[in-house]
Amino acid sequence: MQLKRIAVFASGGGSNFGALLEAIENKEVNAQVVLLLSNAPSAYACARAREKGIPVAVINKATHPEADARAQAILKALAEKQADYIVLAGYLPIVPAAIIRAYPNRIVNIHPSLIPAFCGKGFYGHFVHEAAVARGVKLSGATVHFVDEGTDTGPIICQESVPVFAEDSPEDLAARVLKVEHSILPRALSLICADRVLVKNNTVHILTKKEDGAL
Ligand code: GRF
Repeated sequence: MQLKRIAVFASGGGSNFGALLEAIENKEVNAQVVLLLSNAPSAYACARAREKGIPVAVINKATHPEADARAQAILKALAEKQADYIVLAGYLPIVPAAIIRAYPNRIVNIHPSLIPAFCGKGFYGHFVHEAAVARGVKLSGATVHFVDEGTDTGPIICQESVPVFAEDSPEDLAARVLKVEHSILPRALSLICADRVLVKNNTVHILTKKEDGAL
């Protein structure tokens, strides 16, 4: 089976990007990262990529002030690297619709809650965990999903829960959820890159593992 070509988009520390790279190095994911795209040149994710010899592209409002030109520049970078999939690993800008349309069910996002709880407009980063702690939920978690034109509405690939304790701060919960993110993002990519993910009616079906040597 051919190695899948993944472009990772990240704006921050890139610990999820790091977890994905580790899984690829351990041959748990049949892929190579062909591009790290960021809006933030000083993001640690960019440094991680450079350390590993992965090409880095910075595209943002400073490099391309016009939204259309920005979207086109991103599409061009993806085409040049012949990316099969895009992974949003803590990428803050809204992904332009032109890119979502060009990569249907080929853009994967990690969200730090159990969708549909604490998701949608305004629910990103620490806001998610603050809301979960404020509501007093007893379970939260993380979700990996495909990106469609809504906010956090695409087909769900993997979810995993974590307990929430009454004495938790949002930071405590964020740290517990991040650990789970580091295992479910590579797990989702491992399924996708093994051609085991089928989307029907906004629902993901995981195909059973092919026998070694089977067609
Ligand atoms: C994660 O919590 C992820 O769920 C969210 O942004 C954070 C990124 O963390 N979308 P990192 O940059 O991968 O460390």
